[in-house]
This record gives sequence, structure tokens and C-alpha cells, in this order.
Amino acid sequence: MTLVAARESHFEPRPRPAPSGRGLSEATAPPRAPAPTSVPLLQVSGVSLEYRTPERVVRATHRIDLDVYAADRFVLLGPSGCGKSTLLKAIAGFHQPVEGEIRVGGEVVRGPGPDRIVVFQEFDQLPPWKTVAQNVAFPLRAAGLLGRREAEARARHYIDKVGLTRFADSYPHQLSGGMKQRVAIARALATQPKVLLMDEPFAALDALTRRKMQEELLALWDEVRFTLLFVTHSIEEALVVGNRVALLSPHPGRVRSEVNAHDFTLSDIGSRDFQAAVQRLHGRLFEAGPEPDASPVP
Ligand SMILES: Nc1ncnc2c1ncn2[C@@H]1O[C@H](COP(=O)(O)OP(=O)(O)OP(=O)(O)O)[C@@H](O)[C@H]1O
Ligand SMILES: [Mg+2]
Repeated sequence: MTLVAARESHFEPRPRPAPSGRGLSEATAPPRAPAPTSVPLLQVSGVSLEYRTPERVVRATHRIDLDVYAADRFVLLGPSGCGKSTLLKAIAGFHQPVEGEIRVGGEVVRGPGPDRIVVFQEFDQLPPWKTVAQNVAFPLRAAGLLGRREAEARARHYIDKVGLTRFADSYPHQLSGGMKQRVAIARALATQPKVLLMDEPFAALDALTRRKMQEELLALWDEVRFTLLFVTHSIEEALVVGNRVALLSPHPGRVRSEVNAHDFTLSDIGSRDFQAAVQRLHGRLFEAGPEPDASPVP
């Protein structure tokens, strides 16, 4: 992938503020102690999710509890099949819990809405017959958020932010995988969602591009301070992207523990602190845990 996009705009990664201490700490409370009146922007309370087929019932997650605060970069880390994507779909409003509830801004989620936008792993999430600018503007028009001119102006603003100014009138097939993911991120941010949901958005990229995209995402977060819920099964990615990380157990997913990841950056990856944190999370993820107290499904 060309890196010209990052160079051509003001979208240069900026260093994040120096952390007071690096490493992991147990999350007994959110890292930024909220004001007494502050409530989580996203509350997942006792949420169990299932798939029902004529033959059987698959429990994807079991009684998940999460509180995500405004401007958190909250990571769901867990092995394949532990229900990460299903939980994201439920938060997006595409899958209803069999128990528990999900609230965004205090309102119970009952279906999809422009306040929760998902960026998926696949590169083919953009309609190929629309240009980059049309792709980014489309949801703004479709949801009735903005008129044509305003939608176009806002689309161009976010296309600038992800460093694709020169490609605004290109079609998806003219872009690399990383560039398509940037368009998907611009499209999501342009709707100015309350929560940006990302489901392994960089997993299909080569290692170098993946690092570049992680760096760019953090730079964008520095600038826009959106609230992010990010799914990955990469421990390193979780530590770099997240300020808070929830570790999920294998299928069915339960929250095993939550840690605060203190401002690791990509340049820390080789450091002893970083590798120690990776080892700790690895141990935590793969330690044997008690079976969930799920009652058999009829
Ligand atoms: N449409 C479906 N019908 C039945 N079972 C499903 C369906 N989609 C997912 N599952 C099951 O639900 C469980 C959770 O799946 P999910 O896709 O949420 O996992 P995941 O954590 O996102 O995994 P990965 O890291 O591989 O993407 C798995 O056991 C999976 O087999
Ligand atoms: Mg998944």
C-alpha cells in the first residue's frame, strides 16, 4: 500500500501525551476517574447472546458486563469464536440479547441507528459503483442527517482526515486494501456516531500496513476523540490501540477480566514492559477458567 495518503495531508501521527506509568493494571475502575455524575456512554449489562437454528442453540456470549465511557478506546480481546463479532452486532442493534440489556446514552438499544456505526474486517464493505466521496456521503443522506451539499462537504472533511484527499473521486477498485479501510473509517466517522464499532478492521492487512493503520487510528483519535469499541484477537494490537482491554474467555464469551493498558505506542513493541504485558495477557487469556453457570437451553 502506498503511504502517500498519510504524507499528503495533515494526517501525520502525533505523539500521545507521556504516560505516567507504562504497563498493565487491574481495572477496578475506569482509568480516568469519572465525575460522580458521569454515566457510561455504552452499558452492556448481563448480556447473553444466542443463535438458534432448528437443530440447536449456540450460546455466543454469556452475561457480559461492560461500561464504556466517552472517548474510551475500549478493546474486546478474545479467542476465535468467543462471541466478539456477535457482541458488536448486538451493540449495533442487529442481534437482540436473550438476557440483559445494552444502553447507549442511557437509551436501550432496540435496533440499528446512526449513533453506532460498524467498520468490518472485509475490504468489500464499500459499494463499488460509488466513488470514495459518494461512499462517505451516502449514509449521511440515507439517514436524512444532512442535505446534499452539507453531506458532500462533511464527506470531504473526513476524507481529508484519513489522508485520501487525492482519491476522493476514485472508485474502490482503484484503492489498496488499507486505503479502502480508511474510506470505511471516514464513512463511519462522518456520521459522527456516539460509538465507533470496529470488528478486526486491520486483520486482513499485511503486517506493515496494519501497524501504519493502527498508528493512524490513534492519531485520528487524538484529533477527534471519538469513543471506540475495537475487537481483536491480537494481544499486541489490543495493547497498542486500547486504553482499556476486556479479556473474553473462549466460547461462550464471558468477561474474564479487564485491564487498563497505559499508553503503549507502536514504538514500545520491542520493549521489555510491552513484552511483559503481552505475556501477562497471554497467560490470562489461556488460563483454564470455570465453566459458565449457563443453564441448559431448552
Ligand atoms: N449465524 C450463526 N449461526 C449459528 N452460530 C453462529 C453464527 N454466527 C456465529 N455463530 C457461533 O457463535 C459463536 C461466536 O461467533 P462470533 O463470530 O461472534 O465469534 P468471534 O469471537 O467474532 O470469532 P472470530 O475471532 O473468529 O471472528 C461461535 O461459536 C460461532 O460458531
Ligand atoms: Mg469475529
